[in-house]
Amino acid sequence: MGSLNSYVLKRRMRKWWKYLVVLIFLLAVYFGGFLHISGNISTAPPSDLSRNTMKEVFALQRQIKLLKSVLKQYSIPEKEYSDVLLPVIYVITPTYTRPQQKAELTRLKSVFLHVPALHWIVVEDAPKKSQLVSNFLESSGLTYTHLHQSTPQEWKLKDSDPKWRKPRGVLQRNAGIRWLRSKFAHDASPRGVVYFADDDNTYSVELFHEMRDTHKVSVWPVALVGGVLVERPLVESNGQVSSWLAGWKADRPFAMDMAGFAVNLSLLLNKSGVEFSIDAPIGFQESVFLEKIITREELEPKADLCTKVYVWHTRTEQPDLKQEIRLNKVGKHTDEGIEL
Ligand code: UGA
Ligand code: MN
Repeated sequence: MGSLNSYVLKRRMRKWWKYLVVLIFLLAVYFGGFLHISGNISTAPPSDLSRNTMKEVFALQRQIKLLKSVLKQYSIPEKEYSDVLLPVIYVITPTYTRPQQKAELTRLKSVFLHVPALHWIVVEDAPKKSQLVSNFLESSGLTYTHLHQSTPQEWKLKDSDPKWRKPRGVLQRNAGIRWLRSKFAHDASPRGVVYFADDDNTYSVELFHEMRDTHKVSVWPVALVGGVLVERPLVESNGQVSSWLAGWKADRPFAMDMAGFAVNLSLLLNKSGVEFSIDAPIGFQESVFLEKIITREELEPKADLCTKVYVWHTRTEQPDLKQEIRLNKVGKHTDEGIEL
C-alpha cells in the first residue's frame, strides 16, 4: 500500500514538474521580452541584432499610431481595420512583362499593404509564371495567389496597333474568376468582394474602404479616363444611379471603366459561368459583363454618392530606352546582374 502511495505521489510530482518547467519558461519569455522592449533594464549590453530589433519594434509602433490617426481623420471606425471577420476583398490584377512592370506592381503593393483583409490575385499574361513576379509576391508581405494565363497571339496587340484595337487583361481576369469559383466550390454564400484592378492605375486606400460593403455591385467615379477628367455615375435624390456622365458613349448600358465597380463575391459565383468576353464590342467590356449580373437600378453608389474620386485611370509612359538599345548592340546591358 505504502509503495502504491509513493508511486502515485511520484507520478503526480512528475506531472507537476512538467507544469512548473512550462511556467518558468513562460515567465522567462514574458519578462525577457518585457525587459528587452522596455528599454534594456537587463544589464547585458544588447547586441547589434537586438538593438535593431528594438528600433524596428518602436518604428512599427510609431507607424501603427500614425496609421490609426490617418484612419481616424477619414472617419474609418476602428472595427474596420481590427476586425478579422471583415469580408475579404479579392483584387484580380492582370499583368505582363515589360520594363516598368515591377514599378507598377510596387505602386499597387504600397497601397494594398495598408488595406486589411485583402487577397491579391495576380495573373500573368504569360505561358508560365516569371521569376520576377514570383520573387516580388513572395517578399510582398501580402496575401496573394499567383496565376498565369497567356493571351493567344491573334488577340495580342501589335506594336503598330492603337491600344483600343484589342481587349487587354480579359483572359487573365477570367482565370482569376475561375480560381475563385474553384476555391469556393463547396461554399454556397462566401463573404467577400471582387475588384478588377489593372496594374497601371492609381488606387487610394479609401477606395477599398468604400467597396468593402458591397451587397451586389458598388460603383464610383474614375478619373482620367475615356477622354474626360472624371467619368461617373449620376445619382438621383432617391440614391439610385440614373445615368452616366461620360465623354465617350455615355449611353452604354454601364458607361464605366473596369476600375469603377466592385462585385459581391457570392453574387458573382452564384451566376454560373459569368466571365468577361474576349469578343465584346470595343469599349463595351464592362457593360457586357455587368449586364449579366445586375440592373442599373440595383447599383450601390459609393464615394459620397459618386462625388469623390478615389481611383485614377493613369497610364505609364513608355520608357525611353534608345541608349539601352544602342548599348545592347555593343554587348552591354545596364541590367546585367540586377533586377528592375
Ligand atoms: C482600359 C480599361 O481600363 C481596361 O480595364 C480594359 O481591359 C482595357 O481598356 C480594354 O479595353 O481591354 P487600358 O489602360 O487601355 O485599359 O489597358 P491596359 O492598362 O494596357 O491593360 C489592362 C490590363 O491588362 C493591365 O493590368 C495590363 O497589365 C493587362 N495586360 C495588358 C495584359 O495582361 N496583357 C497585355 O498584353 C496587355
Ligand atoms: Mn491601363
